[in-house]
Parts: sequence; structure tokens; C-alpha cells
Amino acid sequence: VRPLRVALLGCGVVGTEVARVLLDHPDDLAARTGAPLELVGVAVRDVTRPRAGVPAELLTDDAESLVDRADLVVELMGGIEPARSLILRAIANGAGVVTANKALLAEQGPLLFEAADAAGVDIAFEAAVAGAIPIVRPVRESLAGDHVTRVLGIVNGTTNYVLDEMATKGLDLDDVVRQAQELGYAEADPTADVDGFDAAAKAAILASLAFHTRVSLDQVAREGIRSVTADDVEWARRTGHVVKLLAIAERTAEGVSVRVHPALVPAEHPLAAVRGAFNAVFVEAAAAGPLMFYGQGAGGRPTASAVLGDLVSVARDRLTGGKGSYESAYASLPVLPADAAVTRY
Ligand code: NDP
Ligand code: HSE
Repeated sequence: VRPLRVALLGCGVVGTEVARVLLDHPDDLAARTGAPLELVGVAVRDVTRPRAGVPAELLTDDAESLVDRADLVVELMGGIEPARSLILRAIANGAGVVTANKALLAEQGPLLFEAADAAGVDIAFEAAVAGAIPIVRPVRESLAGDHVTRVLGIVNGTTNYVLDEMATKGLDLDDVVRQAQELGYAEADPTADVDGFDAAAKAAILASLAFHTRVSLDQVAREGIRSVTADDVEWARRTGHVVKLLAIAERTAEGVSVRVHPALVPAEHPLAAVRGAFNAVFVEAAAAGPLMFYGQGAGGRPTASAVLGDLVSVARDRLTGGKGSYESAYASLPVLPADAAVTRY
């Protein structure tokens, strides 16, 4: 089978981890996909800066030419431009696209999805909401036959980490935001996290998927955590609460309501136990009832997990003509003898 050529746009916190897996575990990915995934180049701004584990000859600052050489394009630059133009270029070339760019999807999603539909290619974006947690696919696909009434949760790891550190160590917001940047949780401009834009973008995406409508960023009521002080957090603790930045999307009698704001969560509520950069999302649907999704919501490796899952999925679709048959991937896996399947703990 001919290798599928992969272009990686961005080699920062997430892109570096994605590149590492593509370079270090080609056989695993080929077995799951049904064809080798060949990393043909990595677009960055500064090609002179060494990237751990990524050969210098793969780096380029000519992202357009790189896109033109690819069957699959993974966009991990962030921001609106040039990410938007490069994705549209990839779609026009007939390439499958994977992106973690919630800011772009919340602002330009309809344009991108219409272009992809017209070209008959995929845009996968599991990593755009809640890092490693599989939430996009469950809401978009698994619950497509149900009637979702509410999506509620913590969808920004940076602010959850910041509020958690403020609560446990009594630190000030600005100091902890710097830590979150160093840990790779925060956006390039952490204002996006602190002022709730990132959570609002994710809420818009989830609401669009859950309620089969188009919710854009400017339709989300938004308040971030900038005005939350260490005293507020301590007062909440003394009254049996935890401060959390919540995203809430609901069906109402009139339509769909989407908002992001800090809230006092009772200490015994499961959301109060979400620590550090973890996220948790509750989905309520008429037939399924309540569902809970929990896991690492930010950081390079967790997010790379979701990106790579999308990449395998888009690659499989490409091999099968988008029919969703994964037969080749199953056929390539050896089946272990029955006694090897018994694990003792
Ligand atoms: P970083 O800022 O760490 O990395 C961005 C990368 O894109 C850098 O390698 C940068 O190049 C490159 N880049 C940016 N602009 C250009 C340009 N104009 N031309 C060429 N290269 C460019 O971002 P992250 O890895 O943290 O995030 C990437 C995406 O993933 C964003 O959309 C973000 O919202 C999303 N995301 C991030 C998560 C996280 O926890 N970090 C979690 C979930 C999603 P250079 O290195 O030379 O500056
Ligand atoms: N800055 C984002 C967050 C990254 O902290 O949740 C994950 O989307």
C-alpha cells in the first residue's frame, strides 16, 4: 500500500508530541490505519530552532508548499490566519484535515465544513474540545439518534489548574497563569483562557454538535476568571464550595442557550473533584440519560492522543473512500492465543 503523506503545521507543545509518535511508532500507526503514515514535513515560523526528536530537514517555513505535497494535513498552529487559508488549501487539494484549533472552528467552522463537504474530505477535530477526552465523536456520532438536552462542564484546563492552585496554595492568579504556560496548558495568548474565550469556543462547538445548530463564539455569554481573587476562592471553601469555570449549553423552550462563567460548585459535587488541568463534561440526553466524560483537558501528550486518533480515522476513511469500513486495519492485527488474553492482577 502506498504511504499516506502527512504534513504537520506547527511544532509547538502539541505538534512536537504528534511528530514524535509519527516518527517513533510508524509500525503501530500503519497497522491501525492500514497504510504507513509518512511525515513529509513540519511547518514552523523559526526553522533554525531545534525541535526535540524532529530532524531539522523536515522543518520548513513554506507551509503552502508543504500542504501541496500532503494527503493528510494536521493543523496545530493555532490562531485564525494562516491556519484558515492553509486548511482551505488542503481541502481544495483533496487532503483530509485534522485540527485542534477551537478558536478557528468556533469562528469559521461553517465555511470550513461546507468546503470539506463540497470536496468530499474529512475535517476531524476531537482535540479541539477537552484535550484527550473523547467528547466530540460521542456527541456528534454516538448520540446522533438521541435528543441532547444539556451539556455542562469544565472545558478549560488552564483555568481549572489556576483555580485549583489558588485554592490549595493561596497563590495569585497571575503567578499561576505563568505556571500553566510553562506546563503547556495555556494558549499562545493566555488571555484566551483567563477571559473565557477558549471555553466559549469549546462551548460553541459542543452546542453546535449536540443541538444540530450553528452556535458561533459571539452567541456565547462569556465571563472568565480574571476577577476571581484568592479571597473569593477561600470564602468559597469556607462555605463548602469550590469555584469552577463552567460551560453550560442547554435547550430551552425558546431555543439554545450557551454560557461560560465562574460558578460556586458544592464541594460534594463530582465537578468539585476535577483537579489541575483535568476537564469533565456531563451530557444529558432524553434516552441515554446522564453521561459523564472525564480526563486530561490540556497538555502536549494528552492532546496529541486525540490528534493521532483523528489522524488514524481520517487516514482510514481516505483508504476506504470514506465508507467507514475499517476492515484492513482489523485484518492487519495478529490475534493472540486465548490463554494470552488472561491478565492477572
Ligand atoms: P504552540 O504555540 O506551542 O505551537 C504553535 C506552533 O505553530 C509553533 O511551532 C509555531 O512555530 C507554529 N506556527 C504558528 N504560527 C505559524 C505560522 N504563521 N507559520 C508557521 N508556523 C506557525 O501551540 P500549541 O501546540 O499549544 O497549540 C496548537 C493548537 O492546538 C492550537 O490551536 C491550540 O488551541 C490547540 N490545543 C492546544 C492544547 C494544549 O494543551 N496546548 C490542547 C488542545 C488544543 P514556532 O515554533 O516557530 O513559533
Ligand atoms: N488552553 C487550553 C486549556 C488547551 O487550557 O484547556 C486545551 O484546549
